[in-house]
Amino acid sequence: MSDEFSRLREALKKVDFFYSLSMGYLDELIRALKKRKAAKGEELIKQGEIGDKFYLISTGEVSVYVKKGGFGSPKKVATLGPGDFFGEMALITDLPRAATVIAEEPSEFFVLYKRDFKKILMSNPKIAAIINDVLSKRRASNR
Ligand code: CMP
Repeated sequence: MSDEFSRLREALKKVDFFYSLSMGYLDELIRALKKRKAAKGEELIKQGEIGDKFYLISTGEVSVYVKKGGFGSPKKVATLGPGDFFGEMALITDLPRAATVIAEEPSEFFVLYKRDFKKILMSNPKIAAIINDVLSKRRASNR
């Protein structure tokens, strides 16, 4: 096992909700995760687009902007940091992206494609419950 692999495994175990993944799933998760970097100001997700990726923040910070209706300007609804995730809504609801997400500083992410997100995370009842709970709160606060 490479050093990087074991470092990543230790890091992921510290993210509360990954803690309940069994070793087998954790290893599968690590193999499926892709790393991505973003520069300050970079747009990671655009509201209204079709989404196929889930993001877990490793380092840095992002802001979430929601624009309601056809006109009006986007409003900042949240700032997320290390250990937080985003991009779950479109993958779970099959609706277009509900917000625009922009890196506030140079940031690093672990990215999971929809298929792996469903197979590895949403098939674990504890993790699915946490993600669904966060999703409902976010949807409610955007109304
Ligand atoms: P998704 O709709 O796939 O893409 C935009 C993401 O922004 C969304 O998933 C959530 O992960 C995130 N998001 C939307 N609304 C909020 C909110 N009120 N607070 C935090 N994150 C949000």
